[in-house]
Amino acid sequence: MNIQISNKTLEDFEADIKIVLVINKNFEHKWVKDKEALEFLGFEGESEESTFVTHAKTIYVGCESLEAEEIRLACAKALSVLKKTKAKTAKIGTYSNDCPGVNIKAMSEAFVLGGYTFDQYKSKKSKSTLECITICCDDYSTINISLETANKALHVGTTIAASTNFAKDLINTIPFEMHSLKLEEIAHSLASIDGVTCKSYGKEFLEEQGMGAFLAVNRASHIPPRLIHLTYKPENASKKIVYVGKGLTYDTGGLSLKGGEHMVTMKCDMSGAAAALGIFQGAALLGLPYEIHAIIGATENAIGPEAYKPDDVLVAKNGKTIEVRNTDAEGRLVVADLLCYAQEQKPDLMIDMATLTGACVVALGEYTTGIMGHSESLKNELYEISKKSGELTGILPFNRYLKKMLKSHIADMSNISSSRYGGAITAGLFLANFIEDAYKDKWLHLDIAGPAYSEKEWGYNQCGASGTGVRMNLYWLIEQSKTLH
Ligand code: BES
Ligand code: ZN
Ligand code: ZN
Repeated sequence: MNIQISNKTLEDFEADIKIVLVINKNFEHKWVKDKEALEFLGFEGESEESTFVTHAKTIYVGCESLEAEEIRLACAKALSVLKKTKAKTAKIGTYSNDCPGVNIKAMSEAFVLGGYTFDQYKSKKSKSTLECITICCDDYSTINISLETANKALHVGTTIAASTNFAKDLINTIPFEMHSLKLEEIAHSLASIDGVTCKSYGKEFLEEQGMGAFLAVNRASHIPPRLIHLTYKPENASKKIVYVGKGLTYDTGGLSLKGGEHMVTMKCDMSGAAAALGIFQGAALLGLPYEIHAIIGATENAIGPEAYKPDDVLVAKNGKTIEVRNTDAEGRLVVADLLCYAQEQKPDLMIDMATLTGACVVALGEYTTGIMGHSESLKNELYEISKKSGELTGILPFNRYLKKMLKSHIADMSNISSSRYGGAITAGLFLANFIEDAYKDKWLHLDIAGPAYSEKEWGYNQCGASGTGVRMNLYWLIEQSKTLH
């Protein structure tokens, strides 16, 4: 399905179906032409409410305001109605907004995100006749948007959404196929983008690097581990930004085996890695002016005679020792070694993303990412920008008392907290042990265990993976690059 811009008016442009958003219950808007029919249908213009006025071939959707997220939700709703029809083409107008392009970007994001389907394992594939949606910018002159700006907004919006969908595909693929070597292959394929190089390393390298924590997690797996390192280096890059992703292609829990109910969906435990790849791809395709690195630790947490055990003591890359008390707290072990490696790149900003704890889901609910770190300003900046991107986040504060919960009698620290409370924060504090002072204020940890994967659809997210992390980070990078010029 294609999305395009036209400078024709909504009325003049020819299409099978018209989409009209009823903004803030304003039935007096010039595009609301079927007031009588809408009243007959009982349409009140509530948020996400939709109806199809057949004779006018018009889909009406309620939209609370001109906020980008309201537009996204309404457009995705319109698309779901549209897909049930046999229409090949559809059209929608833009709405006056004091920020040129915001409407268009949000609309394009919604159509691409909402249009995602994953039916690789279904023998009957979902079919849609829809070929093209046209965004008619008839009022572009009144709100001062040139056709060029409109097309740029379309390009940015579709790239952000396509990169999110790319991450979703990786996560939704079954663990039998999406193992460390497959992730490696996919990462290498990104090297076809201008300015991108990809390196990947196996067991020997991890041993040379002293990554005893990462290696221990891999021990029972019959598939070798991979540290994947992608670099995008545009000319005159102003900053170096490193994304670190937890790439547990399956998490059985290891010897501290998960119960059946908790194990299912653990193919999503590489969502941090998928997010890093999605952000990386989006940034490179948009040609953002930063040197961007994606560093991924890919392995599975399996069981077998070689498995690492509770009571083992591991040595991480920075020489710190870790008592294993629960092999299901494996993500932090992999990410700890990755963070040590990432700091050697001398980043200006370093963000790790991981489906790290069930406790984060308890704390914030299923839809919200937990932001942690030492820098108040970085945490607040990402929190604010995430709202614009449509992703939900909440800041979880570190404190000195929870830090003490990681004490071990036999090693420098334990891999789990001695308290059952505050598990998302203690996991973040565990990672903080691997951050050198010089990088304390340049690091953020995102626990995406809640929103990364859901077995029910929410908003414009389908059942399954959501690609969490991609949109908020691309929004952030784009926003920062604007202030740069
Ligand atoms: N991968 C899980 C966390 C997770 C939970 C991801 C729910 C997605 C959805 C992680 O490796 C894990 O098992 N964490 C344990 C930590 C505990 C043993 C301290 C948990 O959350 O139970
Ligand atoms: Zn686990
Ligand atoms: Zn895990």
